[in-house]
Amino acid sequence: MTRFQATAPGKIILFGEHAVVYNRPAIAVPVLNVRARAELEPTTDRDGLQIVAPDLDRNYRLAEAEPDDALALIIRSTLAYLDQSKPPSAILTVSSTIPLGRGLGSGAAISTSIARVLGHFYGRDLAPAELSSLVYEVEKLYHGTPSGIDNTVVAFEQPVYFVRQQPIERMPVARPFTLVVGDTGRVSPTHKAVGYVREQWQADPAGYEQYFDEAGRIAAAARELIEQGRSIAKLGQLMDENQSVLEKMGVSSPELEQLIQVARQAGALGAKLSGAGWGGNMIALVEPQPEAIRAVTQALTQSGATGVIVTEVDGIHHP
Ligand code: PMV
Repeated sequence: MTRFQATAPGKIILFGEHAVVYNRPAIAVPVLNVRARAELEPTTDRDGLQIVAPDLDRNYRLAEAEPDDALALIIRSTLAYLDQSKPPSAILTVSSTIPLGRGLGSGAAISTSIARVLGHFYGRDLAPAELSSLVYEVEKLYHGTPSGIDNTVVAFEQPVYFVRQQPIERMPVARPFTLVVGDTGRVSPTHKAVGYVREQWQADPAGYEQYFDEAGRIAAAARELIEQGRSIAKLGQLMDENQSVLEKMGVSSPELEQLIQVARQAGALGAKLSGAGWGGNMIALVEPQPEAIRAVTQALTQSGATGVIVTEVDGIHHP
């Protein structure tokens, strides 16, 4: 019998995390070399859908899933969207090379790949906008007030200039650039960091509005540089500036700052945390030469990064 397959990439936030929750612009890019994958294998001998997630060491039937099970939620909402009253008789295998819970969009990518593979099964190629809104509904259950940036960049698989509740703007990248992504090894608790920023903003609205404005100004300036392919050194500076603002917001951490500092010392043009903060990943902008990439990669590994990913941002669509 035919086996159906779909994948979705990881993502990183380049500029504007947290401020994006407060309607300031942010830039996110897909990380195409790490991906989530969903495979659907129809069965004749079995009734209903079996979910197999080897990375999570899980194997269970959809009918027996807990009410808040993330995989079951995206399966059920996609089936409803596709007007299917019952799930297919099949085995759904979900896997991912995206580190879990590190701000690289693993949750959004897994959900996207599942919605996409169910679409294939029912002969419907779900468009990125359809995938993005299905996944957003699930993200809301987990993060409370997600801006929607994760599901957008993962479903569209292109650099995006994102403003909450506004039509998506895909960003051309005039000159590709290289990022080294370093993992602190600590889970980045998105809802906690977002909740902390909300409390601080409520306690000091004027101060935090200023931080958000600053982050938004940086994202807008970065967009111009990226779209016009202008000075990569200036782009690095903007990353450093954004990191300072995130530190003032209180979402950085000693581990993140250590990796950021060693990346800069090893020649990175700029570096910052990426995503919710307090853990997760930092990103460093590097010259595209292999020696420059190696220097930063080695420095990060020697300083305790538990994983390093090198990715090129090129703005070309990879289906
Ligand atoms: O999921 P993460 O760790 O990439 O963080 C999401 C980015 C935030 O701006 C902090 C929250 C949001 O919903 O945009």
